[in-house]
Amino acid sequence: MLIQTRELWKTYTMGTEKVHALRGVTIDITKGEYVAIMGPSGSGKSTLMNMIGCLDTPSSGSYTLNDRSVANMNDDELAMIRNREIGFVFQTFNLLPRATALHNVELPLIYNGTPSETRLDMAKRALEMVDLGDRMGHRPNQLSGGQRQRVAVARALVNNPSLILADEPTGNLDSKTGVEIMGLFDRLHKAGNTIILVTHEHDVAKYADRILHIHDGQVSRDEDVRNAA
Ligand SMILES: Nc1ncnc2c1ncn2[C@@H]1O[C@H](COP(=O)(O)OP(=O)(O)O)[C@@H](O)[C@H]1O
Ligand SMILES: [Mg+2]
Repeated sequence: MLIQTRELWKTYTMGTEKVHALRGVTIDITKGEYVAIMGPSGSGKSTLMNMIGCLDTPSSGSYTLNDRSVANMNDDELAMIRNREIGFVFQTFNLLPRATALHNVELPLIYNGTPSETRLDMAKRALEMVDLGDRMGHRPNQLSGGQRQRVAVARALVNNPSLILADEPTGNLDSKTGVEIMGLFDRLHKAGNTIILVTHEHDVAKYADRILHIHDGQVSRDEDVRNAA
């Protein structure tokens, strides 16, 4: 099993108030799946995504990624997993504004010590995969919103991660550009990538094969939409 959570809880304490962002989430996701996590604003989607991405730890419950318990990993191991196993795509792209597309995509490889020649090749290949082979020298402000998000997707892909996590990846895009980005995720899924996508929009969630509906920090429905158009 790629992802296995058991009774995940996450409680934030704000002064004297406790916010239960997750209340016992138990899910299994296998390699190669395309899953959308859908729910209203504040339902716990990003919190769950941050747990799955090893960016945050649960208050209780267990999480195993590739059959390894995340709770038993130290900070170095977690950093390595985030860098090598997981590709992140965020709503706000999170690109370095002064760096070219090529350099932005190279960054994860710089962090993990990939030699420079290999790095350049890998970054170019990732940019070609998202059809930006002709924009490698452009900086973010010289690219459209959709192109910026494609750079972010290339950066997420560059290490060949076993898992791609996207939190509202179309949230800052117009609907036509959003459709383009969803087409790109479709292609990546068909190529064998595991994709987990967070969204509050049904039009976006329907691209996935499975929709996990989240309400008030709990999975309210696990829907198979493989044959729904
Ligand atoms: N760092 C935090 N500190 C305190 N409360 C938080 C924090 N992050 C999220 N929350 C709260 O947890 C709940 C779920 O948030 P979130 O996972 O971001 O929801 P979603 O992504 O579905 O909009 C919300 O009530 C939110 O206010
Ligand atoms: Mg969110």
